[in-house]
Amino acid sequence: MPDLPGQLRCTSCQNPLVAGTRICPRCHALQPREAPAPPRQRAPRTFAHGRATYDHKLGEGASAVVWKGSYFALTVRGYQAPVPVAIKELRPGLQMDIARGLLRNEAVALGSLAALPAAATVNVVQLLDAADDATDAGGPGLVFELIPGETLETRLARQVWARRPLTAAAIWSFFAQLTGALAVVHESGQVHADVKPANALLRQDGVLKLTDFGLARPIGARVQGHEAGAGTSAYISPEQVLGNPLGPASDLYSAAMVLFEMLTGRTPFDVRGRAELAVRMDQVHSEPPHLRTFLPQAPPQLGDLLHAALAKDPARRFQRAEDMRAAFGAILEPASREL
Ligand SMILES: Nc1ncnc2c1ncn2[C@@H]1O[C@H](COP(=O)(O)OP(=O)(O)O)[C@@H](O)[C@H]1O
Ligand SMILES: [Mg+2]
Repeated sequence: MPDLPGQLRCTSCQNPLVAGTRICPRCHALQPREAPAPPRQRAPRTFAHGRATYDHKLGEGASAVVWKGSYFALTVRGYQAPVPVAIKELRPGLQMDIARGLLRNEAVALGSLAALPAAATVNVVQLLDAADDATDAGGPGLVFELIPGETLETRLARQVWARRPLTAAAIWSFFAQLTGALAVVHESGQVHADVKPANALLRQDGVLKLTDFGLARPIGARVQGHEAGAGTSAYISPEQVLGNPLGPASDLYSAAMVLFEMLTGRTPFDVRGRAELAVRMDQVHSEPPHLRTFLPQAPPQLGDLLHAALAKDPARRFQRAEDMRAAFGAILEPASREL
């Protein structure tokens, strides 16, 4: 009689076995453990210009879950060959209209960069497609190019854990790319408003891609009302804490925080075991420690430049990303070549 579907048999004597049997009652051969059930697959879904299948979870931020997947663009000739992508969707259980707003905002902000030549946006993650959040039952979703690698946050954590600071070459490379991305964002009339290591993706070949444009807004707009708690306290500018209008100098303050962390392994205001609000108050009121407190061998001009970049008053900081890159590059670039 043919086996019933799923009938188990001894791997040695083919005796029929009950599921979970470890020793065959007939020949006493040890049986392999059952393979663990495969992870539950997410159903494929349709976006505005193609469809995507899902693999596994890549990461999770405050508002979203990001999945690795494959995307099939729809053209007049039918579906194209799949490309690997990152699919960003709402975290289940989030207050929907706020979180929806973040994803919609991100699509609009990145959409306004899409018209620029590809060479200009090498350091910004590319948005490939989006689901229409007004009509799609699957909820809002964004499809990005996949950046295989890790975030700058993970890289920094690894370096701190191994007590091996980033090399001067890596610090300069990441900072130059980050300020390059910000130059393009500001040129388009926007402020990113959430510059931090977790939002800088590092591709395996060393290319940095700025991502997470959920809080991006036109230059001069404020972070207001329900969004006021948004942003990560260790990196946000005093004007963002205070709900004042944001300009490019706000992102450049955050970029200076990231640079401080790349150089020393920590942000100027200690965040460990402290309330978010206390760190936010530091951003507004406390003088940041000098770079040389944590990195005594740093050139004094580097510490002074960083101190100026962290001024409380946005008018006293760098106003343009290119100027900031050039000023720091004069010190960091020669140092990066010495190694
Ligand atoms: N394009 C991508 N390629 C690879 N990983 C990504 C990509 N986009 C996001 N991720 C991963 O997902 C995490 C959360 O994404 P992010 O856009 O920052 O969401 P949130 O708005 O929730 O912070 C990132 O820190 C990163 O680990
Ligand atoms: Mg993020």
